[in-house]
Amino acid sequence: MSNFFDFKSFRKTIRYANKHFNIFLFTIITSILFSILSASRPVLIQIAFDKYINFSNSTNNFIDKINNYFPDTLLNFIAIIFIVLLFESICQYLFINKSNYLAQSIIRDIRNDIFSVILKFRISYFDKNPTGKTLTRVTSDIEAIGQIFSQGLLVVFADIFKIFLIILFMFLMNWKLALVSISFFPFLIFSTLIFQKLMKKSFQKIRLYISKLNVFVHEHILGMNIVKIFNNEDRELKKFKEINHSHLKYNLKTVLYFSIFVPIIDIFSAVSMGLIIWYGGEMILSSNNNLNTSLGQLISFILFINMLFRPLRSMADKFNVLQMGVVASSRVFELMSKERELEKNIGSVKEYTFKQDIIFTDVNFSYKKDEIIFENFNLNIEYGKTLAIVGPTGSGKSTIINLILRFYEINSGEIYVGKRDIKSFDISYLRSNIGVIHQDPFLFSDTILNNIIFSNNQSKENVISSIKEIGLMDIINSFPNGLEFHVGEEGKNLSLGQRQIISFLRVYMSNPELIIFDEATSSLDSNTEELIKKAINKFSYSKTCIIIAHRLSTIKNANRIIFLKNGKIMEDGTHEDLLSKKGYYSDLYNKQWMDYFK
Ligand SMILES: Nc1ncnc2c1ncn2[C@@H]1O[C@H](COP(=O)(O)OP(=O)(O)OP(=O)(O)O)[C@@H](O)[C@H]1O
Ligand SMILES: [Mg+2]
Repeated sequence: MSNFFDFKSFRKTIRYANKHFNIFLFTIITSILFSILSASRPVLIQIAFDKYINFSNSTNNFIDKINNYFPDTLLNFIAIIFIVLLFESICQYLFINKSNYLAQSIIRDIRNDIFSVILKFRISYFDKNPTGKTLTRVTSDIEAIGQIFSQGLLVVFADIFKIFLIILFMFLMNWKLALVSISFFPFLIFSTLIFQKLMKKSFQKIRLYISKLNVFVHEHILGMNIVKIFNNEDRELKKFKEINHSHLKYNLKTVLYFSIFVPIIDIFSAVSMGLIIWYGGEMILSSNNNLNTSLGQLISFILFINMLFRPLRSMADKFNVLQMGVVASSRVFELMSKERELEKNIGSVKEYTFKQDIIFTDVNFSYKKDEIIFENFNLNIEYGKTLAIVGPTGSGKSTIINLILRFYEINSGEIYVGKRDIKSFDISYLRSNIGVIHQDPFLFSDTILNNIIFSNNQSKENVISSIKEIGLMDIINSFPNGLEFHVGEEGKNLSLGQRQIISFLRVYMSNPELIIFDEATSSLDSNTEELIKKAINKFSYSKTCIIIAHRLSTIKNANRIIFLKNGKIMEDGTHEDLLSKKGYYSDLYNKQWMDYFK
């Protein structure tokens, strides 16, 4: 049964309605009222026929009992029917309105929750999971969950209640006709169950392919340059068409199931109606009508059957919406319950000076099992000094930074700030003391100013005076509206060098104790680099600074340079020390020097 319907996810979803319990209750009440009013319509029609038109005296007890409460003229009675109709419409309006309000509120709540969980994930989660997949969870999956409330659950509830009422009314009016009317029910339930099972399988596939489509489109928009440079449009289009075709295939399957199911229900409905007309007609015509069947009753049963099968048909449809929502919710809740992926903020220290050495002792680390990056790695990064890290690509330079930031947890060993293990710090406090400028800095789709004050809430005047102080105002002024210039999505309106400058200013304004440049000035012209260097010198006075660089001219003046290869420190010393060693560093230096004069 759990395969048929995922009750666990369903319960979790329903819990979200708790917060809006009043509206939830209100919608249920309106749906009950709506069902009662619409189920009573055939009863009123019967009375209209039997009491005012046909003057039949062969109605039964149930109708007899309520008959006396109605007015004497048909016109007045029609007025009553009209009022019932009016109330029915009002209830329907309230039901639709409030159930959608509820759905939208729940969509908002779940979305807030899921985004706050995503913000807490470790960086490694994002290494493993494509962006488009996570994006689908936050967007279309959550919409599907919302439909549980706007179109699924409450409508199914209303329909079930209505069916129950109709059957009750039918039995109260004429139990024999009622039995004939529902004689097909077992078949109906059986075919509905089969239909649901088939639909669920297809729905899961559909959601899977929606997610795949999102991943594919997102990745290709990001990598559009590469697609075009390699003239790969046709091949990528072919791949896209394949995914899209699978999506179509499973959608068509649901259409097929649906197009078989609907006529089956209609056949059952038509046959039931035929039976009622035949059986009921016989009863009225037969001289000893001891079952008290009247013409009005026959008409009302025809209406009842119509009303009975319509929600049955739509209920199957709504049940699918419900099921689709539950499938989506199980994916969303699966994402939310990824405890393993959450960043462990085990420490709580928030007051501790970072004006101290940073020390790696016997650190072992690997991103993936069996792929060792550091083995018994030791390094003392001295406070207030500038350490430069050089070495071939993939040697582990950026990894050192990732470990200090606790983006990844080390397998064993310790990293200390002074005498404290970095694990003992509150993670946001730790990171607030560290500023990183990357080679390919990320900017948010906002103004230059807002990107600079991203985390430090400085006033515009402060930002301007700081930029002036370090002599970079000319560069900012070269944009049409200066600091208010919009950098575009991911900073696409700017050159790489310009993005590096803004990313530098972002760190500069938040004034951390440890500043890290990971290939961060590689795209600056020498003039600008000079300006930044000066700013760094001023800024890093009494601060610790780590510079990772391939261009050795950038780091000549560092207090200490280490040459890293395969996660091991091969050489360690000042520029002059390393040159005189005539090892890796001097080789590299001479090569760059020669290239320069070529
Ligand atoms: N997120 C990751 N998941 C798995 N492996 C990774 C990840 N990031 C880096 N690596 C691996 O770790 C090793 C060290 O990478 P790292 O980024 O530290 O190199 P690097 O010295 O900074 O190189 P570069 O000079 O090219 O920036 C590489 O072999 C790389 O393949
Ligand atoms: Mg790197």
